[in-house]
Amino acid sequence: MTSQPGDAERDEPQSRMKIAAIGDLHVRDDEPPSWRTLFEEMSRAADVLVLAGDLTDLGKPRQAELLAEELRGCLVPVVAVLGNHDHECNAAEEVTTILRESGMKVLDGQSVEIGGVSFVGVKGFAGGFGRGMLSSFGEPAIKAMVAESMNEAMRLENAMRKVRPGRTLVVLHYAPIPDTIKGEPLEIYPFLGSSRLAETIDRFPVNAVVHGHAHVGVYEGRTPGGVPVYNVAKFIEKPSGRPYALLEI
Ligand SMILES: [Fe+2]
Ligand SMILES: [Fe+2]
Repeated sequence: MTSQPGDAERDEPQSRMKIAAIGDLHVRDDEPPSWRTLFEEMSRAADVLVLAGDLTDLGKPRQAELLAEELRGCLVPVVAVLGNHDHECNAAEEVTTILRESGMKVLDGQSVEIGGVSFVGVKGFAGGFGRGMLSSFGEPAIKAMVAESMNEAMRLENAMRKVRPGRTLVVLHYAPIPDTIKGEPLEIYPFLGSSRLAETIDRFPVNAVVHGHAHVGVYEGRTPGGVPVYNVAKFIEKPSGRPYALLEI
């Protein structure tokens, strides 16, 4: 059976979950860690903390350890996806292991259910938007890039298929729509996300989507199917007036 985005609203129970979401922490190992107070604040404000990738600045295991230490002050579950920066040192597996051992739910094509809400996470990839999307034509390098973009969308689809009906938040690093990256140079739009992610999201009942990666952009947009999308990169101005977004689903 194919569900429509509106189904999520109709199924919505009365008690809503508060989610604090932020992307692009870019934790470094060459400066004093400074996240603990913010994490404590977020965990007081919400039931779940969501981190939308670029958790570390260079994907160094030491940076992941520092993030895990800073998160000790967080009293609520933490759900995350990795970003492109977390892959820079070719140590993404080790970074993931360190973060998972700290208790973080690092999603890479999986979902986790917390308090009746399903969190579905995948990093996503570049590729461009709408008619400007890169197509699989020409050199093998171009085809490999398009294949990676399609693969991430497929992994999101596979994860969505296993989710129980109910409230769902999709967590990405790359943007699924161009609306929330407005303000970035047009020349780099194709490297900030892919419409293939939005096409997949619109085939399922999803309450909301969060992403990061575009450090400049607009907080809120919608997929062509009407699902709310939030750019929660820490640099984006948000209605909360804080570096993190506060969502209720
Ligand atoms: Fe970033
Ligand atoms: Fe990024």
